[in-house]
Amino acid sequence: MWTFVSPRVIVFGEDALEALRNEKAERVLIVADESMVKLGYVNKVKEVLTANKVEIFSEVEPEPSMETAFKCTKLARELQPSLIVAVGGGSVLDVAKAVRILMELDVDPLVINPFTDLYELGFKKKAKLIAIPTTSGTGADVTWASVLTDKAENRKLTPSNKEVVPDVSILDYRLVEAMPKRLIAGSGMDALTHAIEGMLAPWKNEFSDAMCEKAIELILNNLERSYNGDLEARAKMHLSATMAGLGFGNSQVGLVHSFGHTFGAVFKIHHGVSVGLFLPYVLTYYLKSDARARLDEIAIKNKLSSAEGLIDRILGLMRNIEIPTKLSEIVSEHEFKANLETLVLNTLNDSSLGTSPRIPDYNETQKIYEYAFEGKRIDF
Ligand SMILES: [Fe+2]
Repeated sequence: MWTFVSPRVIVFGEDALEALRNEKAERVLIVADESMVKLGYVNKVKEVLTANKVEIFSEVEPEPSMETAFKCTKLARELQPSLIVAVGGGSVLDVAKAVRILMELDVDPLVINPFTDLYELGFKKKAKLIAIPTTSGTGADVTWASVLTDKAENRKLTPSNKEVVPDVSILDYRLVEAMPKRLIAGSGMDALTHAIEGMLAPWKNEFSDAMCEKAIELILNNLERSYNGDLEARAKMHLSATMAGLGFGNSQVGLVHSFGHTFGAVFKIHHGVSVGLFLPYVLTYYLKSDARARLDEIAIKNKLSSAEGLIDRILGLMRNIEIPTKLSEIVSEHEFKANLETLVLNTLNDSSLGTSPRIPDYNETQKIYEYAFEGKRIDF
């Protein structure tokens, strides 16, 4: 049996925020971060809401902590909102997704996994959750998981369940018009990686494939144009990130994310830049596996000759949007060598490893890092 989970409604367009006018909630909690307040996006949301009482939680930090989620939960328990509106990047959306559950259930987020029946634990879904992403990459507006950091234990918690998925995603193009170039490039590479890994994962299915395939086409045709200031292309990128989210959210990511998570965490590199950097290396590593046929298929659908052509196209795109194509562009040899063993061990412990079409052993993982450091094409 297969399940494809998505929000009930996705609203998109230049005026998509207007959909909030139809919300009849009396009490609303807006979850955001400081930059959303400064950019005026929180006010934009507030202006279209008709609720009597609106509270704003704007303390979400990048890679949000459990403490932040609990602080927001406390506010939600006091307010008892029937609507939570999350406006921001992946971190903001992740906090709101967890808070919607935690405001009703006094449980350790660790118990929330895809197999937990939250209704059996007393969950009544008292609040509707509307996600309004302001970056075009994470797909967090439509995915099952929320990523939180347990600072005390120095580990990531990922409460993950289909009830974590927002009820509505609003993709308003105006909110991404002023996105900084660096963020367009990084988040765009994250979306491309989601779409490609989503098509190679063992749980891929016809529905996830449809989303991933279209997302790949849109990203290959629009990311560079968006980076260079084309707003029509930027709108397409906003859609494609959510489509990729629907795809990989229902199939999984793989080894590119294992490398990207690990390298990004050790060297504090933006998630999208970090996964993007490993994408061509891991895809080349996949050429000697069953995934090769799939990569050929993706290439041909995008008018490229073969999997090798697809990898070259991605490398060219990365150069044109100023994403580093080798690790030595961002870390020194000394730093790299000093951390290599940790990088290899953490990559092999990453949760996305098991859903990869080819799984490397210790030596291969180390070699992939070394090749990626030097910018050498994988030949094993
Ligand atoms: Fe990602």
